Amino acid sequence: MRGSHWRAALAITVVVSGCVDTVGPERAIDGQQLYENYCARCHGVDGRPVPEQPQARDLSNRRIVDTLGDEAISVAIRMGRPPTMPAFRDEFTEASLMVLVAYVRSLSGSPGSRAPDAGGASPP
Ligand code: HEC
Repeated sequence: MRGSHWRAALAITVVVSGCVDTVGPERAIDGQQLYENYCARCHGVDGRPVPEQPQARDLSNRRIVDTLGDEAISVAIRMGRPPTMPAFRDEFTEASLMVLVAYVRSLSGSPGSRAPDAGGASPP
């Protein structure tokens, strides 16, 4: 709980520097920060698509998110959804991706398929 300002600043640094992740005792990966930086401009801060991107998937809709599951969400992030959603490919490390997917799920309260608790585990 110490230094939340410091932590926020660090999270932004990680986002700005792209694929550099600080994975250590002081984990700087912040799902909300990632989401708001990369996804909210289309999917909205709360998961509801912004007016400019009405065709973006409604990530606040639990049925949609439940149906997708973690795997499909990661694939969508990595590969994008042409023509509109960009492929983020190597933008996120495995760890960041897991945190981001978990955050996306939390927008709708979907339990999804639980991601292993970091620690460098990478699903196939
Ligand atoms: C430029 C706008 C844009 C951005 C940025 C964007 N998306 Fe999307 N996203 C879309 C659109 C449009 C669709 C619907 C595509 C379709 O109908 O196939 C979509 C679909 C999805 C889906 C559903 C995929 C499926 O298989 O149905 C997920 C999950 C998703 N986005 C997550 C994200 C996440 C997480 C981010 C941030 C890392 C993100 N998106 C960034 C526009 C965007």
